[in-house]
Amino acid sequence: MQPFNIRELTRTDTEALLAFEVRNRDWFESHIDARDPAFYSLSGVAKHIEDYLADFEMGAWHPLVIEDANRKIVGRANLKSIDSTLSSAEVGYRIDQQFCGQGLATLALRHLIEQARERWKLKQLAAYIFKENVGSRKVVERCGFLPHAHSPGGEDVEAECRFILSI
Ligand SMILES: CC(C)(COP(=O)(O)OP(=O)(O)OC[C@H]1O[C@@H](n2cnc3c(N)ncnc32)[C@H](O)[C@@H]1OP(=O)(O)O)[C@@H](O)C(=O)NCCC(=O)NCCS
Repeated sequence: MQPFNIRELTRTDTEALLAFEVRNRDWFESHIDARDPAFYSLSGVAKHIEDYLADFEMGAWHPLVIEDANRKIVGRANLKSIDSTLSSAEVGYRIDQQFCGQGLATLALRHLIEQARERWKLKQLAAYIFKENVGSRKVVERCGFLPHAHSPGGEDVEAECRFILSI
């Protein structure tokens, strides 16, 4: 695998992040929920980054990007909805279509697990994956997540599978 670097999202990522999201918009929308169309502009992405960094400061979100050797953004990974009371969070990731199949999502998820354990002292991570997203399912299972029933009355129970990892 060529060298990749995982680092925290910053305010200077606006242009590179917009390029990454525009380049992969159709690809992502075929696997995960579509973003608001207003997101796809410099001001939309700048606001998105501000929101994520505000949540990071509050300890509710840990936003990361994956870069290639040329410092191009080729993926994103987030610890989401960090709950220090329940010691839990959700994981999310998306990889540039042209860089898929090289183990990048697995690398990113392993990094998130390490951050969750070491930095945030969490005990449980959850992943929500559409049933037809075979690649993502493979990624979480490879990292030790196990399928788990949704809580009764939860949304999208039919469409999504919930996976849990105790760490
Ligand atoms: C799902 C996703 C993150 C995987 O990224 P990736 O970097 O290719 O993942 P990895 O290379 O670490 O592992 C994927 C594995 O699934 C396999 N895979 C991918 N698509 C597959 C498919 N349709 N059927 C069977 N296996 C598949 C790959 O071959 C690979 O397995 P291998 O390493 O044994 O060959 C990427 O496809 C993506 O960003 N999709 C769009 C956004 C998304 O779905 N995010 C996840 C939301 S839950």
